[in-house]
This record gives sequence, structure tokens and C-alpha cells, in this order.
Amino acid sequence: MALITPQIDVHLGQQDVERALRADVTSGLQSTPKRLAPKWFYDDRGSELFDEITRLPEYYLTRREREILYSEAATLARLTEADTLVELGSGTSEKTLLILDALHHRGNLERYVPFDVSEATLRAAAQGIAERYPGVIVHAVVGDFGRHLDRLPTEGRRIVAFLGSTIGNLFPEERIAFLATLRATMSEDDRLLLGTDLVKEPARLEAAYNDSAGVTAAFNLNILSVLNSALEANFNTAEFEHIARFNAEHEWIEMALRSRIAQSVRLEALDLTVDFAAGEELRTEISAKFRRERAESELEIAGFEMERWWTDSNNDFALSVSRPDSMS
Ligand code: SAH
Ligand code: AVI
Repeated sequence: MALITPQIDVHLGQQDVERALRADVTSGLQSTPKRLAPKWFYDDRGSELFDEITRLPEYYLTRREREILYSEAATLARLTEADTLVELGSGTSEKTLLILDALHHRGNLERYVPFDVSEATLRAAAQGIAERYPGVIVHAVVGDFGRHLDRLPTEGRRIVAFLGSTIGNLFPEERIAFLATLRATMSEDDRLLLGTDLVKEPARLEAAYNDSAGVTAAFNLNILSVLNSALEANFNTAEFEHIARFNAEHEWIEMALRSRIAQSVRLEALDLTVDFAAGEELRTEISAKFRRERAESELEIAGFEMERWWTDSNNDFALSVSRPDSMS
């Protein structure tokens, strides 16, 4: 069968990215506490580091989610009879193959729509999938899921997958807004497949974000290198320490970069000098951990009704399938 070259829509051009980065960094570094958005982790190096994280012994999330997909993908294909898989924050699309294979075996697979901010990673993944499934349309979209959900192709009977617990990198109010916006783009035959990491002992959670090989620390610190090259900044990464701790009140991991000394950092492209006190933290990411009730109620508020809740054999991770609520 003919190999169809992937179509790639780019909604985030270089200029667009630069404008958004400048605005985000200008406000984030002048806020109290200082903060940066996690989407800036994912330049080419950051995407590679995340890929390494997924193979770390302490980072159980990817393995657990894969285990669930392994046992439930055929059920998912039967339940949805989907011919199209849309995947938000698709990255390398590695686990995705389990879903695509299941749709393919059922004879339904027509289209794959990976969506990510990281253009190089997306292009490589789209090409790989097109080669693996000749005859299947691969329509990749470079975009920000905080801004461009309305640009997603709507053809086909769709599963919209958001895997890896990436939804946990959004704050609760952002999650609801994101889900409600997504809901508005979905028709009644579409289904949402959502990966959520579950609340568990803090020691295991903290180990997953403080791995012994230091890959998560390198991933976190890489955001400073992104600013150095994109904004002519002079962050010395050796003068910042990776921090990841479980916040029991909010049930999320919070990651930050703690300044080891009092220092000033210059961001030439923004004509901005930022002072850090010794010990001051720059917040970079939260990774919320879920209980079924919370996931279900957030989905409900946003206009979804949960149909399935699947967990791995260790109850570490959950995948849920939800339908757009016809009443909303
Ligand atoms: N789904 C994969 C990758 C998770 S890593 C997995 O489960 O392993 C998070 C992915 O989301 C990265 O590929 C990153 O580039 C992408 N991402 C992060 N913020 C984004 C945003 N605002 N819009 C679109 N993609 C984003
Ligand atoms: C992409 N996201 C779900 C990862 C997580 O676990 O929150 C990002 C990550 N941050 C540190 N390690 C992995």
C-alpha cells in the first residue's frame, strides 16, 4: 500500500514561539514567587531528556500506563469503534502504537493526528508512524494545547488521547478550562482517553522526580538553558539546585530550581535583570496526582461522563474513557 507523507500543520511558527516565550518569561520572572511554564522544558534536548526519564527505574508512570494499554487497547477499539486517534502532547508517540495497533487489528484505523509543541519530535514521530502504517493518514499538528485545540482536525470517529498524566502539569482551574475547551471541539461519538497518575506514598512519588541518575534534575535545569539560548540569558545552571517534593495538601509534586547563592541574571533579549536571593525558588512545574473521584468530578464539571476507569496491577496509574455529556 502507498506510503502517505504526513501532513504537518504548524500553528506555532518561530516568531509565535519567541513572542510567547518573551511574554511568559517577562511576567514569570517578575512574579512572586518566580515561575516558568513547563511547556518551555521541551526543546530538542528537553524532549530527549523526557524520553530518558520514561525509562528510569524510579519513573513508574510510563511503564504502568503501557501495562494498562497493553491489556485494554483491544477493548478500547471495540468500545469506541474509532477510526481516528488524536493525541495531545504526543511526544515520541511510543505507547501510542498499542492503540494504533488495536484500531488497525479491528480494521478501523484511518487517521492519526499527533499534536505537540515540540516540532522536531513531532515530525520524527509522524514520519515513523506513516512508515509503520502505510495507507493511514498521518496529520500532525504543531500547536499549544492551551491555545490551539480549535485547530484540531475533526474528521472521523475519534479517540482523543491525552496520555502520560500530562494533564497533571496543569493547575486545577487550568485543567477544567482545558477539558471544557476540548469538550466543545468534540462530537457525541468521540471519546476522551485520559491518563492520570494516582496518589500514592510520598516516598515513591518523590523518588520518581528525584531519580538517582539525575536525569530529572537535568530536565528541570534544561529550562534555564532554553532561556540562555533563546533570550541571550546568562543563567549558570551550576548555581541552581533541582527540587521536587510532594505537596500533601494539594496532592501534587512541585518542581522548582533553588538558587544556591544570591545572584543576578541578565536576559539580554528582554533587557531584563533578575535578582535571586540565596535559597529562592523558581517554580517550574506541578505534577498533580489523582484519585478517581477528583478525575471524575473534574471531567463532569467540564462536560464529560466517565465510562471506564482502568488501573494497572499495582494501582499506580489510571486510564479513563469518557464521553461528551449530551446535556452540556
Ligand atoms: N504523551 C507522551 C509525552 C508526555 S511528555 C507520554 O505519555 O510519554 C509531555 C508532552 O507534551 C511533550 O511531548 C511536550 O512537548 C508536550 N507539551 C507540553 N506542553 C504542551 C503544550 N502546551 N501544548 C502542546 N504540547 C505540549
Ligand atoms: C509530562 N509529564 C506528565 C511529566 C510528569 O511526570 O509530570 C513531566 C516530568 N517532570 C519531571 N519528570 C517528568
